[in-house]
Amino acid sequence: VVDVPLFELVEWMHRNEPQAKYRLGSSNIYRDATAPGPVDWSAIAEEMSTYQGYARASQTRYPDMLAGWLGVPRAELLPTMGTSEANSLVVHALSLGGERFVVDVPNYQPLFGLPPLYGARVDMVPRHEADGWRLDLEAVKAACRPGTTAIFTCNLHNPTGAALMREELRALGDIAADAGAVLVVDEIFRHFVEDDSMVPPVRSVVPEAVATGSLSKVYGWGATRMGWVTGPAELVERVRRLKVLVAPTSGLPNEAISVQVVGALPELRKWSKGVAKRGTEALRAWVESRDDVAWVPPYAGIISFPRLERVRDTVALAKRALAEKGVMVSPGEYFGMPGHLRIGVGLPDRTVIDEGLQLLGEVIDST
Ligand SMILES: Cc1ncc(COP(=O)(O)O)c(C=O)c1O
Repeated sequence: VVDVPLFELVEWMHRNEPQAKYRLGSSNIYRDATAPGPVDWSAIAEEMSTYQGYARASQTRYPDMLAGWLGVPRAELLPTMGTSEANSLVVHALSLGGERFVVDVPNYQPLFGLPPLYGARVDMVPRHEADGWRLDLEAVKAACRPGTTAIFTCNLHNPTGAALMREELRALGDIAADAGAVLVVDEIFRHFVEDDSMVPPVRSVVPEAVATGSLSKVYGWGATRMGWVTGPAELVERVRRLKVLVAPTSGLPNEAISVQVVGALPELRKWSKGVAKRGTEALRAWVESRDDVAWVPPYAGIISFPRLERVRDTVALAKRALAEKGVMVSPGEYFGMPGHLRIGVGLPDRTVIDEGLQLLGEVIDST
């Protein structure tokens, strides 16, 4: 019997985020009234009230709209419930037969946590702070062996915000091809980048790769649970069959919201990049004001992984920050690295971030 591990990061978030006054622990952008793309709820209520079984207007339209926005042929796209389901389905599809995954760590837990649940082994490749958290491609190559079915990473990287650039993606594609493996990239944070040509969608440089993503982070619409898998049509069809066995449809309101939101995504992306920039400036100022915090600034986006020079037990620190000051950050332990905090700066109001960081500093000072 394989133990099902606790997903500590998400348990921590679900238990505590609603009560936190300063939400600096998640990787979400928090949309507020300044965000573009308001939703016409009455149109959604109308569609709900004229429910027509599986032939619902939004359900029929949304996948085509999403394919158009992503710029992929419809046969290479599967809409999913968030990047979570996308990752789970892809791992499941690639694990059937009990093969091996190469995954870099630290990382978002499902990337290395899911394969063993589906019978695959994981060969881990460490990233190092001293290297700017870069993915060591030689180490990835060395980790590939007979039976390696997939190389699974995320771009931008969680928890550090490091990026895989165009040439690195191409090299990873070559490493995967040489190993007879599929390159899978979770691109949930990629749209935070300024320049798509520097950090492109993986499939634009490695067409045989698989990418996952969702509206959850950059677009602040995690509540819709709208995600996707894109990849070669044959593999997408295999994944689709799995999905239909497990959860054939998404909720109609989610799809109806998404139909409206798709048109606003370019504007929303611009807005989110502004939020990320302001938040990162706030964090940079705080880090630079302290002589006991070191960090590698993120390439883009809202998360990074600062290290505290004098505190090792960051679970205890995070619990104190929450209990005493209402500040929520995520302990490095949930990424296997005590002494770090994953800090997310997705709040649109910079003053709230500044205040939260100031209070976090007070807790560190009194530790
Ligand atoms: C790398 C990564 N993948 C997937 C997810 C989950 O995404 P979703 O909310 O779209 O299911 C997250 C959430 O933080 C994440 O950081």
